[in-house]
Amino acid sequence: MSYKEVYQSWQDNPEAFWMDAAKAIDWDSAPSKALFDKGDNLYEWFADAKVNTCWNAVDRHVENGRGEQTAIIYDSPITHTKREISYVELRNRVASLAGALRAKGVEKGDRVIIYMPMIPEALEAMLACARLGAIHSVVFGGFAANELAVRIDDCEPKAIIAASCGLEPGRVVHYKPLLDGAIELAEHKPDFCVIFQREQEVAELVEGRDVNWHGFQYGVEPAECVPVEGNHPAYILYTSGTTGQPKGVVRHTAGQLVALNWTMKNIYNVDPGDVFWAASDVGWVVGHSYICYGPLIHGNTTIVFEGKPVGTPDAGTFWRVIEEHKVKSFFTAPTAFRAVKREDPTGEFVKKYDLSCLDQVFLAGERADPDTIVWAQEQLRKPIIDHWWQTELGFPGVCNPVGIELLPVKLGSPSVPLPGYDMKILDDAGNELPAGELGAIVTPLPLPPGTFPTLWKAEERFKSSYLSNFPGYYETGDAGMIDEDGYLYIMARTDDVINVAGHRLSTGAMEEVLAGHPDVAECAVIGVADSLKGQMPMGFLCLNAGCDRAHTDVVKEVVALVREKIGPVAAFKLATVVDRLPKTRSGKILRATMVSIADGKEYKMPATIDDPAILDEIKLALQGLGYAHD
Ligand code: COA
Ligand code: AMP
Repeated sequence: MSYKEVYQSWQDNPEAFWMDAAKAIDWDSAPSKALFDKGDNLYEWFADAKVNTCWNAVDRHVENGRGEQTAIIYDSPITHTKREISYVELRNRVASLAGALRAKGVEKGDRVIIYMPMIPEALEAMLACARLGAIHSVVFGGFAANELAVRIDDCEPKAIIAASCGLEPGRVVHYKPLLDGAIELAEHKPDFCVIFQREQEVAELVEGRDVNWHGFQYGVEPAECVPVEGNHPAYILYTSGTTGQPKGVVRHTAGQLVALNWTMKNIYNVDPGDVFWAASDVGWVVGHSYICYGPLIHGNTTIVFEGKPVGTPDAGTFWRVIEEHKVKSFFTAPTAFRAVKREDPTGEFVKKYDLSCLDQVFLAGERADPDTIVWAQEQLRKPIIDHWWQTELGFPGVCNPVGIELLPVKLGSPSVPLPGYDMKILDDAGNELPAGELGAIVTPLPLPPGTFPTLWKAEERFKSSYLSNFPGYYETGDAGMIDEDGYLYIMARTDDVINVAGHRLSTGAMEEVLAGHPDVAECAVIGVADSLKGQMPMGFLCLNAGCDRAHTDVVKEVVALVREKIGPVAAFKLATVVDRLPKTRSGKILRATMVSIADGKEYKMPATIDDPAILDEIKLALQGLGYAHD
């Protein structure tokens, strides 16, 4: 079938479409119907089914004769380690870990935080939770203790599973002190912590609270898969919103199984047995959906890559992994390609490897700039597929559906909506805009299976953040337009979220940290254009009256403070002191205008500006940092 036919079949009968996709899942008790309307614009999928994620991702492949197939390839250029885990080994390891967690009291519905680097044990921890029906929440290793503490208090885990350390180029990330610090900061205390000791750093265990990953599994009965309701939360994943309080995106079990399995062939164009590689991190949604669950549910081999696109050891790492492990479909972020391109503009490393196994490359997480796409097309001579999605959605909403049909690629556009989505562009009043006009990107409710039904313990925030501005629609938070051929173009965020090296960050959260510095009276953080990372955060500080400290000292302190409170991933390195911030007469800081000035773009003087002269002061400050050149 063509894309048009597949899309039409979804439009004609969405519930029948997803019921059909659900046939590929092993149900303990099949759903009686697809969609459950909970009223008040809330929906759930396959709610009355009984099913287990781990069974579908692991055990059933063993039962069906794939036991000897490699499930996970661990390739770590940073530790010079490679390891393969077959489906049968994975089943045994996960059942044992789940058994040990159960013996310590973890049951269906309990939350478990996972704070681990890119090692196979991170996936095993996720799957062990899924096996028991426990709800995991993975926290990215680049977040500091304070961010971990916020998540501990929000999801109140019974247990935390962590590694002793992570490894960044030239630096050991000491997870254990971060974990201890977070537990100290948090009001909620977990019953126990499981520590996976890595040989690069053995952490000291807290007596009575911490157990050793290996030791606590000894002699324990392996656990079987516990069937859970279709609408049982599989996980909570926190993502940045407008404020410092992250949003706990909830993923339901059955919807995730059905949707991710469907995408593996129809989007990513792989068959069971093929090797699929998403070079992301388990701490992000891409890691949940396409390092762990999607490929495993579909019976693929997935790669856990502990390294960087450059420097581990060189800009040929991606191509080496693709050749060595025969990767058929590869997924990364544009920023990673920009990093490779910067070191290897003429593709000398590409030429050293045989990439004949590779059929296509997918890019997501941020805008894919045409230069990067063209570079990748020229070097790799494969389809380079930009696709758009969000943590909230769990799988792509807009994509060139290469597994169904490769549509013409248009540079700068992630292409067309997938079944489940019907993107519209609305003006502020909610009127639909014609092709070519810029507005808020929305899609009608209900969202498809596999997307988020709500936010953890925050239904009102869910409604006010996503459903209230445009009744009947899900508001994506992105602005853009649709062209005459139905291709979507993403232009900007409509909120205070920025995208740094493919990582979604909240400028509001950074402002909260800056405002906490004793000398800062007022502040603003904006995202300025960056040729490698897409955007970089930049802070503007107004100091308290009478503060006569050297500006460079205060700047140094706030940079350190953001690293301490949010973490290195915030990449907050640029800040400057200004006398005043540009505001409207009603006191709203004109952040968008500041961004335009920084990026050297034309801007209209806001009609409501209080004092236009402040913009010149801002421009001067930006020029001092090497920005805002005409
Ligand atoms: N644990 C601890 N620290 C981490 C981390 C982790 N898992 N991931 C990143 N960090 C740290 C980095 O070491 C860096 O610290 P530094 O300030 O001491 O140098 C900081 O966070 C910022 O990291 P990042 O923005 O990723 O920059 P980088 O310079 O380390 O690497 C790229 C730049 C482009 C190579 C890298 O960002 C990259 O590969 N990005 C791909 C993004 C991606 O896959 N996103 C997922 C969406 S698909
Ligand atoms: P995250 O939740 O971290 O996946 O970030 C989602 C946000 O990243 C989206 O709302 C977009 O702003 C941005 N994004 C993701 N994919 C793309 C893409 N292909 N093109 C442009 N922006 C993207």
